[in-house]
Amino acid sequence: MKATAVAPANIAFIKYWGRTDAALRLPANASISMNLSASITTTTVEFSDALSQDTIELLEPGGFSEKEIRRVVRQLDVVRNKARTRVFARVATKNTFPKSTGAASSASGFAALTVAAASALGLSLSEKELTILARVGSGSACRSIPDGFVKWEGGDSASSFAHSLYPASYWDIRDVLAIVGSTGKDVSSTAGHDSVRTSPYFLRRLDAVAGRITRIEQALKDKNFQMLGTVIEEDCLDMHHVMQTQVPPLLYWSDATRMLMDAVRNWRTNGIPVYFTIDAGPNVHLICEGKDEDRVLDAIKAVSGVENVILNKPAGGARISTKHLF
Ligand code: DP6
Repeated sequence: MKATAVAPANIAFIKYWGRTDAALRLPANASISMNLSASITTTTVEFSDALSQDTIELLEPGGFSEKEIRRVVRQLDVVRNKARTRVFARVATKNTFPKSTGAASSASGFAALTVAAASALGLSLSEKELTILARVGSGSACRSIPDGFVKWEGGDSASSFAHSLYPASYWDIRDVLAIVGSTGKDVSSTAGHDSVRTSPYFLRRLDAVAGRITRIEQALKDKNFQMLGTVIEEDCLDMHHVMQTQVPPLLYWSDATRMLMDAVRNWRTNGIPVYFTIDAGPNVHLICEGKDEDRVLDAIKAVSGVENVILNKPAGGARISTKHLF
């Protein structure tokens, strides 16, 4: 009745922003991502008749908030319903990246929780079924289960699942994550998804995304890095345009974020092939090829406001581990 799973965070090249069903977390558009090797969550789940309630523990300073604990319990219920049981669980989880860096991701967390809980309850589910279950916990979590470069399909409850396009070893891409601040977000991404239709640019974005998916798939197929990076930046800016025009507006960038965006454009002019992408926070993901990693790491040193750098390579998906946390 005890199992442990390890899952990576992922960075979206084409973003998931907006849903057609909030409870089922059905996305308004398909998205494409890469799993991140240095941003990993490990979670152990044990179900036991001896427990009279769920106990959820984050093994790092600060722990989980009440709200986060309720969300974990809801996801345990999703897995329990699938297994037709009501037995309570003990859950312990830890990240390779401290939550306080702002690099923390619900994607790795809900992927590891879902895979560990399903295994602990003896459910034998396909990868596709696991991605559908994880999606209900956090949309982006479904992309952390398959290997390497992953596509999450739009659709309905049964057809919106994630699958690997290419394994992690396919292309030596880097995500150099520049941590520029750890100030808490005013509006969570979950709340942001819910108000997306207040932006007059949301429907226009949906129109544009289909073409970008095709272009990213072509860039991956051809290993055309310039095309990949160009579309990644285009989609990031488009998503933030929608975020910034929602009511209330979601303004995630800090001065350091803008400085890094400018720096990346300058570095490109000076011959370093690097592109940026940004999620629901101020940190900047610098996307380059392995051969340019040293030049990018060196260039970052000259930018003020960067507190920490996390170097990610493409990673495999979620997996079961024998190293339990308790
Ligand atoms: C900006 O997956 O965090 O990172 O489904 O409510 O958990 P929930 O939202 P979440 O949204 C991620 C949004 C994003 C873009 C992306 O990762 O695709």
